Amino acid sequence: MKTVKLTLNPLDKKSKINKEIYSNFSEHLGRCIYDGIYVGENSDIPNIEGFRKDVVEAFKELKLPVLRWPGGCFADEYHWKDGVGDRSSRAKVVNNWGHIVEDNSFGTHEFMRFCELVGCEPYISANVGSGTVRELMEWVEYITFDNVSSPMGELRKKNGRERAWKLKYLGIGNESWGCGGNMTPEYYCDQYKQYATFCREYSGNKLFKIACGPNADDYNWTEVCMKKITPWNMNGLSMHYYTVPTGNWDHKGSSTDFDDAEYYSTLKSTLRMDELITRHGEIMNRYDPEHRVGLVVDEWGCWYDVEPDTDPSFLYQLNTMRDAIVAAINLNIFNKHSDRVYMANIAQAVNVLQSVVLTEGMKTIKTPTYHAFDLFKGHMENTLIYSHIENEEASEGVPALSQSASINGAGEIVITLANCSLDREYSVEIGGACDIRSAKGRILTGEVHAMNDFDSPENVVISSLDVKASDGKASVILPACSVAEIILK
Ligand code: AHR
Repeated sequence: MKTVKLTLNPLDKKSKINKEIYSNFSEHLGRCIYDGIYVGENSDIPNIEGFRKDVVEAFKELKLPVLRWPGGCFADEYHWKDGVGDRSSRAKVVNNWGHIVEDNSFGTHEFMRFCELVGCEPYISANVGSGTVRELMEWVEYITFDNVSSPMGELRKKNGRERAWKLKYLGIGNESWGCGGNMTPEYYCDQYKQYATFCREYSGNKLFKIACGPNADDYNWTEVCMKKITPWNMNGLSMHYYTVPTGNWDHKGSSTDFDDAEYYSTLKSTLRMDELITRHGEIMNRYDPEHRVGLVVDEWGCWYDVEPDTDPSFLYQLNTMRDAIVAAINLNIFNKHSDRVYMANIAQAVNVLQSVVLTEGMKTIKTPTYHAFDLFKGHMENTLIYSHIENEEASEGVPALSQSASINGAGEIVITLANCSLDREYSVEIGGACDIRSAKGRILTGEVHAMNDFDSPENVVISSLDVKASDGKASVILPACSVAEIILK
């Protein structure tokens, strides 16, 4: 077993790690909302006001900070008035994810209530592609204006909610370069300015407006947005990047059936996230050296071929230890770029793409990705500190180890580590400018194909990790294919 040094310097404090980095995304797509989050009050599945109890609890445990909704591509065909009022008379529309009929039984009230139950902030992605400025202006009024004699306040009251909600995160369009309208960046910026102008701040509500940013490496999109919008009230710029194992969107690869080479090509694809953030960040730095505009990676994660015998447009895939490693690599990258990355939302919350939770009838499983998020939650709102690990190549140019470290208000150091190698374990010696008195840890590990399924939901779970502390240092053994959290005092 090889010994490597992990050096920390808690005196070298860097940026704050916003809790928002640990956020999620839910879309009216496949079984994410219906079945996954909402089953209706009359369902046999245990529910709170129609929301799956197990899913509410799972997200509460994760301390989910923000949930994005209603899309995705669906956002740009969503007309919010279809989804308010008496459920039995809500408009039925076609959802172009699968051309199925959407009955709008989950709308604004349901989304805001779900967020209340989970304890997370809502992030609404507004329709720029097929909506109108007036529609969005009224949606903001409906949600946030306390005055129930205003037209939208009155409608809200009539629909059962007198008090306005608070809404912080508002996305103006989704993938406007693609499914959101196939716009040029120049045209989008003008649209953004027009839509954003009419998103008023009512009743003390403060909006954090997020412009639609680039697709992966479209650096020109970022350049144009930063040039045209920055001085004009943009709080965030989004970026979308998905990990595709084969790099080929026609044959992306299976979520469960992959060999070592495909495992490492998945990690190579995911590691591009670091380069993308660095390069978009460099462009943003030229226009915004004070870092007032946050990069919001509001769609990321693994995108595989759908599970055989499932609807291809429902994007249902399974989740193995490989996904936990991918999640850990990305979360460490976001932590290290937390001076620019304000928020990140993995796609998606339930039953779609790299989900943290999967459901089937009465049953729910927490995926390996869920457990990776659990191991990282100790970083929320901490300050990133200097850390360096001696590293080596695992295979195909993929480094074996990934790490980040932060310090909390009580002076505890939180370290997250991933051992991406499939065949090497490492002894990690932790030291540096710190006097370690005690240490504890938790670990998620298993064969890379290991997963939780509906018959064995606890196949891959977190266990405690033995971390030794003596002479001001700590040491730990990291098995192959593992994700760990270490807390030092
Ligand atoms: O997450 C699935 C889809 O991926 C979203 O609807 C869209 O924004 C992206 O292309």
